Amino acid sequence: MAYLLGIDIGTSGTKTALFNEKGEALASYTGEYGMAQPKNGWAEQNPQDWWEAVVDGIRAVLGKSRVDAGDIAGIGLSGQMHGLTMLDREDRVLRPAIIWCDQRTAVECAEIEELMGGRDRLIAITANPALTGFTAGKIRWVQKHEPEIYEKCAHMLLPKDYIRLKLTGEYATEVSDASGMQLLDVPNRCWSDEVLHKLGIDKSLLGKVYESPEITGVITKQVAELTGLKAGTPVVGGAGDNAAAAVGTGVVRQGRAFTTIGTSGVVFAHTDKVTIDPLGRAHTFCCAVPGAWHVMGVTQAAGLSLKWFRDTLCESEIAAAKQMGVDPYDLMNKEVAQSPIGANRLFYLPYLMGERTPHLDADCRGAFIGLNAIHQKRDMMRAVMEGVAYSLKDCQSLFGGMGLKIVHMAACGGGSKSPVWRQMLADLYGCDIMTVKGEGPALGVALLAGVGAKVYSSVPEACDAAIQYGDRQSPDADAAEYLKNYEFYRTLYPALKNAYAELAKL
Ligand code: XUL
Repeated sequence: MAYLLGIDIGTSGTKTALFNEKGEALASYTGEYGMAQPKNGWAEQNPQDWWEAVVDGIRAVLGKSRVDAGDIAGIGLSGQMHGLTMLDREDRVLRPAIIWCDQRTAVECAEIEELMGGRDRLIAITANPALTGFTAGKIRWVQKHEPEIYEKCAHMLLPKDYIRLKLTGEYATEVSDASGMQLLDVPNRCWSDEVLHKLGIDKSLLGKVYESPEITGVITKQVAELTGLKAGTPVVGGAGDNAAAAVGTGVVRQGRAFTTIGTSGVVFAHTDKVTIDPLGRAHTFCCAVPGAWHVMGVTQAAGLSLKWFRDTLCESEIAAAKQMGVDPYDLMNKEVAQSPIGANRLFYLPYLMGERTPHLDADCRGAFIGLNAIHQKRDMMRAVMEGVAYSLKDCQSLFGGMGLKIVHMAACGGGSKSPVWRQMLADLYGCDIMTVKGEGPALGVALLAGVGAKVYSSVPEACDAAIQYGDRQSPDADAAEYLKNYEFYRTLYPALKNAYAELAKL
């Protein structure tokens, strides 16, 4: 039996998990770390924290599982996308990494589109408009604001690719994560000489680009001594966290998609042909299946909306849940079930952190519309969950317009544990929603490692061997009402757009 190791360098922590060929987790460990916000809208992390969490994780899973390190056929890396790690010639970190949720680059994004000769040209090459979260804007920000750092920079790596360097000594990346740097020619799966030239970035600063299941290097002798891994164990390209979650949920064929409700919400669809939204409302990236892509819509505050509601207004539910030894969300779900569809004509806009899909508006903010003296807390909770579901429907609806027909929708992330939320999605999307048994991105990249190590012959074959689905919910008689309410929800953002712009200036 071969074993496979998956490492996912997330925003709140790094998860390391060891799997057998059937995708069953033998041991897993999460090492947590913080995020610095030196200014409003900035977000930075210390790459050394990621590395320490990785070393702890590898040691912990080897210890817990008692698997012989020599039986580990391969290692896969996943991680938060877009983050910029800058190194000098001796591989020393030059400044804290500027990560995906950092919003400091609005000016730089406008400049990038201008330098490219317009947004359309940038979209034609990188498949996306300049977005504040993406790496190119962060690079330009350092070029302009910290030229002395840029001068010393010899390598620029994404978070998981910095870990690859530590594990293998190789400067490399792979197509799915590289797509989010906004320097990749996404249709042709290689660095774009045109973008690099226009943005004044030397190609030698970037890692070599691989496909996700390809072997990019092997564990060094030094790392073997430090962690207990065997020197020479192959490390494959891996994938950005969403492309990795797609493999971990079996979304690797045309017609398949998943919705994840974590802090943010993502609706992700696999596509065998490169498919780009000319208006840039959905992201198009290379996916972890060689020669295929994915389209993805992002709701900035999905699970975060309900977490905000819980932490701000549900003190009594939190206390009761503590006494009963249950999760506060379970009690909240029961209350929500007592409010009717439409929450007694109450609507919520989930724009706590601005919105990506479909509005691309950093200034919009959350709102309850229709509050009335009859409303109770359960109506507000229901409105929050419905508002997030409508926003995810906004993402899913774009796929239809791009010619993507979805026949299989999996649900993952913490929010997908709620049957009420899953039913809303089934009714709004008009298709079955399935839960997935497994370990998400860490399982996804472990399976990619299995493909690289020839345990499986292809990514879809790896998923067939390892992914199992759980509960299935189908659209029911409530669908018509949700869809009627969704049509009203869609009128709210246009009605408030100008007010949001004014609010930002107050
Ligand atoms: C994707 C994105 C997030 C990060 C962090 O575009 O910004 O999913 O990868 O999870």
